[in-house]
Amino acid sequence: MTEILKANSAGIDRAVHLLNNGELVAFPTETVYGLGALADDAQAVAAVFQAKGRPNDNPLIVHVSNLAMVEHYAQHIPNVFYQLVDQFWPGSLTLILEAKNLPDEVTAGLSTVAFRMPDSELTLDLIEQLGLPIVGPSANTSGKPSPTQAAHVYHDLNGKISAILDGGTAEVGVESTVVDLTGSIPLILRPGKITQSDLRAILPTLKYDAHLISAEEVPKAPGMKYQHYSPNVPVFMVAKDEISQIPDQANLAIVADESDLINFKQAKIFELSKEYSIEMATHNLYQALRQFDQPEVSAIFVEVFEGENATAYMNRLQKASGGKRLVDYQQ
Ligand code: TXA
Ligand code: MG
Repeated sequence: MTEILKANSAGIDRAVHLLNNGELVAFPTETVYGLGALADDAQAVAAVFQAKGRPNDNPLIVHVSNLAMVEHYAQHIPNVFYQLVDQFWPGSLTLILEAKNLPDEVTAGLSTVAFRMPDSELTLDLIEQLGLPIVGPSANTSGKPSPTQAAHVYHDLNGKISAILDGGTAEVGVESTVVDLTGSIPLILRPGKITQSDLRAILPTLKYDAHLISAEEVPKAPGMKYQHYSPNVPVFMVAKDEISQIPDQANLAIVADESDLINFKQAKIFELSKEYSIEMATHNLYQALRQFDQPEVSAIFVEVFEGENATAYMNRLQKASGGKRLVDYQQ
């Protein structure tokens, strides 16, 4: 049985004790829950891959509570790193630097390593008390939607990890923006809440990794090449003006803005957003996918959003649906 730890000092003390013993503890962040192990404990880090069923060529993010931790595990840190940190940390921005002093298990044998300071006081306290950073892949079974609640972590990993520090529901709802600072031009490897426009003042040459623009390119972040964020039930993308074509049947689930759901009486519905708030839709996406991943549901339809602030949402929805649209269901 996996222990659920409360968001208080006793919960943190217990998590510190377990992590110091080489055990795995899931922790809250503002994006999604992470699966923690001490970053310098090669055996515990290997157990993280085991618990998730994660391919071992997929490197982990090192979560820090202060910059000395980055400086201990990174080299040739560019000036822009400090500018970015000033503006965006703690927050949903993961930065890749050249690595040093880390076990190969963390970096999957690469010469680079990803760092993030999550915007969760509870987790920052935990890392500060450990005095060492923790690795933190999303705390889901590999391939499933990332967990935005302690209950999601429990569903996927009960019995496989020692504890979950319960910090409530994650605010943002999708994983952090990953930016590689080690190349000649900075690259967004994974879109998140912090957008290209947000970063351009500090990184004027910032581009998207080619795989985010063309499906033929191989992603630079190993994790982006795997099937991801997918429930077992097939997911279809649907535009606002197509929603009325979805049959009103009890075995179908519709995830859309509240204004687009009013005519459905039989279908299972989920209010993804109000007034098309993309923040709200992003916050709810994984919860909706998990809620309808049940044998009684034969298809999940999810509304598409437009605009730069929807880049992360659409990236995850593309992956969850495998690019399928309503027309693919109708055939
Ligand atoms: O919001 C987040 O980033 C969450 C929370 C828990 O912090 N963590 C998370 O970790 O999403 P994970 O392991 O699920 O995703 C990390 C992504 C993967 O796609 C991985 O391949 C990429 O970052 N990555 C990590 N280190 C890298 C490196 N050195 N070079 C290229 N990509 C890297
Ligand atoms: Mg993940």
